[in-house]
Amino acid sequence: MHFSTIFAATALVGAAFAEDHTVAVSTKSGDLIFKPDSIKAAEGDTVTFKFWPKNHSIAQAAFASPCQPMANGFWSGFVPTTDTAAVANTTFTYEVKNASAPIWFYCTQGNHCNMGMVGVINPPTSGEKTLAAFKNASEAATGNVSPTSTAGTGGNLTVNGTTTSGSASSSASAPASSTGAASHLTGSVAFAGLTGLFTYFLL
Ligand SMILES: *[C@@H]1O[C@H](CO)[C@@H](O)[C@H](O)[C@H]1NC(C)=O
Ligand SMILES: *[C@@H]1O[C@H](CO)[C@@H](O)[C@H](O)[C@H]1NC(C)=O
Ligand SMILES: *[C@@H]1O[C@H](CO)[C@@H](O)[C@H](O)[C@H]1NC(C)=O
Ligand SMILES: *[C@@H]1O[C@H](CO)[C@@H](O)[C@H](O)[C@H]1NC(C)=O
Ligand SMILES: *[C@@H]1O[C@H](CO)[C@@H](O)[C@H](O)[C@H]1NC(C)=O
Ligand SMILES: *[C@@H]1O[C@H](CO)[C@@H](O)[C@H](O)[C@H]1NC(C)=O
Repeated sequence: MHFSTIFAATALVGAAFAEDHTVAVSTKSGDLIFKPDSIKAAEGDTVTFKFWPKNHSIAQAAFASPCQPMANGFWSGFVPTTDTAAVANTTFTYEVKNASAPIWFYCTQGNHCNMGMVGVINPPTSGEKTLAAFKNASEAATGNVSPTSTAGTGGNLTVNGTTTSGSASSSASAPASSTGAASHLTGSVAFAGLTGLFTYFLL
């Protein structure tokens, strides 16, 4: 009884502390920005990206390679929407698994990254790896590359209230430690495939 009481209390505390942070991808008026573009999130927190017109995306980059997809990084896919009155029904949610690892991201559409449409989750609190430096580097970058992975990779893609979990998450996640994790991954890949198909028909 004591154990279950403590367990329940711990679960409650955990749930109470996990926070969801909303990031607007562009704005009603189509500004090439993320709002906010710097997010401080604790381990277990989620960041939900909400899309405005016309057709944006988010992908994870390494600090040293802005506007280029990071290996095993997250990828929302493109989310086209024309509705300027309400944010799109498609959202992408990323869970922070390591609050010490900065997560740099950008919009892969056209030259949006090169126009400074970049952001960061948990930027370093000291040193030269600042969002301003990343933005400068993205503006100096010559290309803007979309990942080739399936839309929804590394997070959850929700379309009209139906959530599909993406496949293998970023390298910042803890290593898989059991066969249970492997079978979970297989299921996720299947889901991601469906999401990709869905996205294909959307376009
Ligand atoms: C994604 O969805 C799964 C299943 O509903 C859930 O367990 C997981 O916490 C979700 N992850 C994020 C980042 O929201
Ligand atoms: C979390 O990220 C930091 C900084 O990148 C790294 O040193 C550390 O090993 C990571 N921890 C885990 C559990 O992956
Ligand atoms: C970014 O570029 C601006 C304009 O060129 C410059 O003033 C600023 O010092 C740069 N910031 C960093 C962190 O490199
Ligand atoms: C978003 O989803 C809600 C409920 O699923 C629906 O009523 C609404 O029309 C949708 N909006 C768009 C722009 O698809
Ligand atoms: C989302 O819901 C809206 C309104 O019900 C509908 O018009 C739209 O086609 C739906 N989108 C998808 C991808 O199901
Ligand atoms: C959204 O942008 C992508 C990449 O530029 C493009 O392939 C796709 O056709 C666009 N979708 C719509 C509906 O404009």
